[in-house]
Amino acid sequence: MNEHVSPDLIVEPGGADTKPATVKGGVHTPTNHDSAHKHVTGRAIYADDMALPEGALHAYLGLSTVASGTITSVDLSAVRAAPGVVGVLTARDMPASNDISPTHLHDEPVLADGEIHFHGQPVFAVIATSRDAARRAATKANISYAEAPFARTVDEAREQGLGLVTKPLTLERGNAQAGLAAAPRRIKGRYTIGGQDHLYLEGHIAVAIPGEDDDMTVTSSTQHPSEVQHMVAHVLGVPSAAVTVNVRRMGGGFGGKETQSNQFAAIAAVAARKFGVAVKIRPDRDDDMITTGKRHDFVVDYDVGFDETGRIEAVDATFAARCGFSADLSGPVTDRALFHADNTYYYPHVRLQSEPLKTNTVSNTAFRGFGGPQGLVVAERIIEEIAYALGEDPLTIRKRNFYGPKDDPEGRNITPYHQTVTDNIIERIVAELEQSSDYHARRDAILAFNARSPIIRKGIALTPVKFGISFTATWYNQAGALVHVYRDGSVHLNHGGTEMGQGLNTKVAQVVAETFQIDIDRVKITATTTDKVPNTSATAASSGSDLNGMAADNAANQIKDRLIDFAAEHYQVSREQVVFEPNVVRVGNQRIPFPDLVDQAYLKRIHLSAAGFYKTPDIHWDRDKGTGRPFYYFAYGAAVSEVSIDTLTGEYHVDRTDLLHDVGKSLNPAIDTGQVEGAFIQGLGWLTTEELWWDDKGRLRTHAPSTYKIPLASDRPAIFNTELVAWSVNQERTIRRSKAVGEPPFMLAASVVEALSMAVASVANYSVCPRLDTPCTPERILMAVERLKSDAA
Ligand code: MTE
Ligand code: MOS
Repeated sequence: MNEHVSPDLIVEPGGADTKPATVKGGVHTPTNHDSAHKHVTGRAIYADDMALPEGALHAYLGLSTVASGTITSVDLSAVRAAPGVVGVLTARDMPASNDISPTHLHDEPVLADGEIHFHGQPVFAVIATSRDAARRAATKANISYAEAPFARTVDEAREQGLGLVTKPLTLERGNAQAGLAAAPRRIKGRYTIGGQDHLYLEGHIAVAIPGEDDDMTVTSSTQHPSEVQHMVAHVLGVPSAAVTVNVRRMGGGFGGKETQSNQFAAIAAVAARKFGVAVKIRPDRDDDMITTGKRHDFVVDYDVGFDETGRIEAVDATFAARCGFSADLSGPVTDRALFHADNTYYYPHVRLQSEPLKTNTVSNTAFRGFGGPQGLVVAERIIEEIAYALGEDPLTIRKRNFYGPKDDPEGRNITPYHQTVTDNIIERIVAELEQSSDYHARRDAILAFNARSPIIRKGIALTPVKFGISFTATWYNQAGALVHVYRDGSVHLNHGGTEMGQGLNTKVAQVVAETFQIDIDRVKITATTTDKVPNTSATAASSGSDLNGMAADNAANQIKDRLIDFAAEHYQVSREQVVFEPNVVRVGNQRIPFPDLVDQAYLKRIHLSAAGFYKTPDIHWDRDKGTGRPFYYFAYGAAVSEVSIDTLTGEYHVDRTDLLHDVGKSLNPAIDTGQVEGAFIQGLGWLTTEELWWDDKGRLRTHAPSTYKIPLASDRPAIFNTELVAWSVNQERTIRRSKAVGEPPFMLAASVVEALSMAVASVANYSVCPRLDTPCTPERILMAVERLKSDAA
């Protein structure tokens, strides 16, 4: 870390560099993920790898065995008597509060208090000397319930009138009813969209270590350390300042650790307080899947009016979501579904409504895209409906409905939430992908193939993506960072974001390396902790590098400014004569290695530490009126997928996928490409094979990878091409003109659904748009094929 720069970087005063030197690991370079080698060699330390203090105990959850009702009696004597058991916790053992609702609705208990809202709801926790002992003891409870009727699905929730978990949203522009009535053509339909389990590799976990006074230190696998801190303080009845939450990394979060970590942290902390020793809780995979929220499934009813050319005139749609028993993040998730129900398309008259329904299932939560994907696939379905009705290539219809440019003379650039799209690049992206993927020739070849192939049928589809970047809760769009420069020129970097595999720490370190013009090895990445950077937002909404990159840049620039002032004064030159070059600072006509300048500054008592801050400018959102500029900018992308289906079995494979995705001026093309590929595959799983199934007792039966099928290496498209849009530059002043990447490419997987749809439609000569709900499991493909065949017969 502290060796000085290599001599080849120091040129003679006045001498010219032959080519501009750059720092190792600066921005826009494909720098390795800082932990890549540790991930693959098992040296990365996760919460479960932490050495526990002497006498540490282990907690395990006891779950309800009914879906709805009241608890009539609780007999935990056999649990207490089990080997190794030290004690149990119920709702009554919460020192100050049993409420971990992330909203102000107080609808989410740590442990069930009298009432049961879903099958598998945690009722008690058992604390024992080993995890195995706790887990065995948890099965020995004797709890009786007075069972009540329950609703699992959107339909059941509507029938039983359970109501909404949170306030719905309406987005409206123009007059949808009048627009529909006046439109030459009109189609009504219903689309059912499945949920998704996060299946992060590392499950939920928390380790709480009590300190003196009220102090509690919690290591949690969370995307939102500040909220865990707040919840632990709230449940314990201590000030937030007494609680510290640490996160070095998660083994994946995908939105499943935005709020769902609260419960585990709260239980570990309460037990640690009660027994005065460290307590760890780590559910097994089944219990993790049963007790934590998932992606919302939706039932969407749409009514679309269009003209003979396929131009949309009006859309009216209702988005009903299975939210589970409490609000959690269902408000902003269902809002975001509406914000993306336009995708890249202009709707002249539009009304979109959300219906966040209460159900007796685990409370659904954030998942990559945060409701956006569910909105987007509906837009794509609407396009398909129109294309089949008119007998056109769906791509033609897509292009006819794209948002216009910034200064569109017809004003075809206003979203249903009245934000003008000013950065639209979808037309160019699609045109380039059409070319590079050879879309038209391949589609013709597929049509010819299908005409002569009796059993195997193929399909191809090109679908676009537009995704709004910023938290719609405007105050969330802020971040902090803390940077220290030590005397040896090494840099300690801390910021409010969390690392979940997405490479945020690497990107932020690249930003700091670039700002100081030092090699990235000099920048030490450190664990996220609430005692260095306070009041942080969840690392979510893909905004991690936008927000924390800017905050870290701000901190680094404060120190850099002080160094410039110091050098100018010390060497009697102007500020302009102090220039940071790779690993050296040019001061007048001498070049001083960065560590030397830092040490000189230290000796002159220059402050070498800074807290940075950033807030996204220009955004605002009035939810009651449904107007504003909720998004700072949009990220775009497009995908072409080609599939083959077996019309006798419904089995299918993705033969080829080409992705072209916009990340602005990429901070790290290697990491961003990985995010695009990974997101696509995760989207593929959501839309094709991942199916959640609750039985007639309200029990989740798909609670392990044995019954819940995520994509395997073999499900990867046989040919898989991924490109970043090379020419894209964020028009807004984001960190080094990059764009967020985490979530938008997830929705590129819509291309697979529409390709499958084309393959299915071939059995009825493309005369009808197949009814193909998601996930498009082989069973659903087969049923769709059979339905078309029997309709035709
Ligand atoms: N990539 C990996 N490897 N693991 C994850 O858990 N989460 C996704 C995405 N990419 C995730 C990931 C989600 S849901 C979000 S919101 C973003 O990363 C969050 O990180 P960012 O804001 O730094 O992109
Ligand atoms: Mo991502 S769903 O915003 O954590």
